[in-house]
Amino acid sequence: MTNPILDKHPVIQLQQVTKHYGLGEAQVRALDGNDLTIQRGEFVAIMGTSGSGKSTLMNIVGALDIVTTGSYELDGINIDRLSDDALSVVRNRKIGFVFQSFNLIPRTTALANVELPLAYRGMERKERRRRALAALDSVGLGDRADHGPTQLSGGQQQRVAIARALVTNPSLVLADEPTGNLDSSSTSDVLDLLQSTHYRGNTIVLITHEDEVAARAQRVIHLVDGRIASDERVH
Ligand SMILES: Nc1ncnc2c1ncn2[C@@H]1O[C@H](COP(=O)(O)OP(=O)(O)OP(=O)(O)O)[C@@H](O)[C@H]1O
Ligand SMILES: [Mg+2]
Repeated sequence: MTNPILDKHPVIQLQQVTKHYGLGEAQVRALDGNDLTIQRGEFVAIMGTSGSGKSTLMNIVGALDIVTTGSYELDGINIDRLSDDALSVVRNRKIGFVFQSFNLIPRTTALANVELPLAYRGMERKERRRRALAALDSVGLGDRADHGPTQLSGGQQQRVAIARALVTNPSLVLADEPTGNLDSSSTSDVLDLLQSTHYRGNTIVLITHEDEVAARAQRVIHLVDGRIASDERVH
């Protein structure tokens, strides 16, 4: 366990980060020189119009891609020059992902889906089963452990995905449009769950284009043309 008092480094520290795609005339500056610090325990929403750089930022913050220039430290680890294998270890250790399309593995159970990041770490079967069941319980789906994704509603599938994101006790929960495919009732269930996760001390970065969703966060960042145009504390 990390000690939140002794452990002073931010979860996310971007310094002068750019991300360029393509070369020459065709070059796109998807991120254009951004500084961003997110401390442990913050709940931050990232907003912006289509093409403003949200997914590019998410990919960098999530260690799915690396910067063109500048530097990124995740939980005190500089990840600018890590190999793909090292990045995947960092992701497994540090980040819980929640995606718009749930990204559950279809032909297996909810329990097996939640166990997966622990299996990847090589955790022994009995222990990972115990932890996965506890995570499913915490999202109210302990009684659906043996159901497959197709036997669950969209909202339930997203709650399984949240259990999978939380089961490793990550430094950062990264959610990209997590309610984009949900009706309003499931949307509020999922947001309640993310909010209670935040109250328990987790750091959450949520990408959304909906004001009602962003309103759940403490801090709202707007991207315009690859730059952070505003960064406001809202609660
Ligand atoms: N792999 C790529 N190759 C070239 N250009 C890219 C690539 N990925 C993104 N871009 C460009 O970078 C810019 C930012 O894209 P990004 O996907 O980050 O936007 P976004 O804010 O996530 O948009 P949306 O809300 O539509 O998902 C856009 O101009 C896009 O066309
Ligand atoms: Mg996007």
